[in-house]
Amino acid sequence: MAAKDRIIVALDVPSLEQAGPLITSLASYVWCFKIGLELITAEGGPQAVRFVQERGGQVFYDGKFCDIPNTVGNAAKAAAGLGVQMFNVHASAGVEAMMAAVANKWKALVLAVTVLTSLEENNAHLIFGGSSKAKVLQLARDAKIAGCDGIICSPQELELLGKQKELVGLLKVTPGVRPEWAATGDQKRVMTPAEAIKAGATVLVIGRPITKPPAEIGTPVDAAKKILEEIAAVL
Ligand code: C5P
Repeated sequence: MAAKDRIIVALDVPSLEQAGPLITSLASYVWCFKIGLELITAEGGPQAVRFVQERGGQVFYDGKFCDIPNTVGNAAKAAAGLGVQMFNVHASAGVEAMMAAVANKWKALVLAVTVLTSLEENNAHLIFGGSSKAKVLQLARDAKIAGCDGIICSPQELELLGKQKELVGLLKVTPGVRPEWAATGDQKRVMTPAEAIKAGATVLVIGRPITKPPAEIGTPVDAAKKILEEIAAVL
């Protein structure tokens, strides 16, 4: 896989008007654009997907479905019908819900969200009753059993996941990626792009370091090029 195919840009902006210039300028430097809850809620999911597709971009529909199997299955059918490359479901919705998503995925890839990269260890204990690593491992196994194509986790869990024979073939998609020059923001379990790729990430989800780069880095395209160089150096 080329460096370009290792980047998904998170389009966390409030409007399609703001997303437009990012899509047209970045489309040839990255694999895919992630439409998340902000744009889906502000502009409508199908509208946002079509907007990206009309500008030559591929879409990761980050709807983070977390509901009963019947609802997740029907939401999956709707997302797949939009012609997106991939969509996701929370692994904590359970194996049956993930299976319902897989049954309706058509040509799309299904990713399972494990433990959000914004959660610190004490939050993971409070919410999941265990360490983030233990929970990510358990949820990754559930995702594999359910037939998901991949999981979303922090780069910090990749080493552990890579040692599990039963998880071979599962795509590892990692947000929580921060180049040395970017602010961490609300992300807690982070690594640099090069570290994440070396640790075994299949694809990196990167938002603010590309869409709102520090002034000294330049434009979103400058930031994407810098990250591409960093990734290419370790491939
Ligand atoms: O701006 P930043 O690089 O932090 O964006 C990361 C993106 O990945 C956000 O859109 C966020 O919703 C998403 N995400 C995440 N952690 C997860 C799953 C998705 O940060 N576990």
